[in-house]
Amino acid sequence: MFVTFEGSEGVGKSTQLRLLKEYLEKTGQSAVYIREPGSTDISEQIRGVILDKSNRAMTYQTEALLYAASRAQLVREVIKPALARGELIICDRYLDSSVAYQGYGRELGADFVKGINAYAIDGCMPDVTVFLDLPPKSNWRGDRHADRIEEQPDDFFERVYKGYLAEIALSPSRFVRIKPDFDKNVTSRRIIEALKERGAIK
Ligand code: TMP
Repeated sequence: MFVTFEGSEGVGKSTQLRLLKEYLEKTGQSAVYIREPGSTDISEQIRGVILDKSNRAMTYQTEALLYAASRAQLVREVIKPALARGELIICDRYLDSSVAYQGYGRELGADFVKGINAYAIDGCMPDVTVFLDLPPKSNWRGDRHADRIEEQPDDFFERVYKGYLAEIALSPSRFVRIKPDFDKNVTSRRIIEALKERGAIK
């Protein structure tokens, strides 16, 4: 099973991934935990280039192709071999992030982004995608240190969120849409129940 997590910035995705990992470890279930962009030597180097704030000259097309290149490496080096071994994969962001951020946020268009990513993912789509559903708030940044994506203006994140909703409308059966609760443990239990119902975890 290939499970991905998606959502806008500051929705508590990292916390939820940590709580899911704790649950799986406590219940003796093994999984491969990866993040995008990253999780191979080459993909982590590409991540550094993409997020580096000094790379202000990067065109949107270059950015979209770099995310796809990082993904192409991860799919072949990690995801496909792990799925072939029958392992559970938990991935922090995947193709939907590119559609939402580059397709809608950067306004390159969903079709363009899906087109270049067809080479990258080579048919490897998630079985289940958990979408942490919080509309962007203007105060989400708090005191976090912005990278090249995080320093985008609010309207960029409005488009990203709309992009996610559009993708969910296209493939409703793949998505589990979870509204984060104030209590992170309540949110975690909802995610675990939903993944159990889908047969992704026990
Ligand atoms: P992270 O902060 O969740 O680690 O993700 C890194 C940043 O990259 C985040 O701002 C979302 C962005 N991103 C894209 O714009 N397109 C993509 O395809 C992916 C995977 C992430």
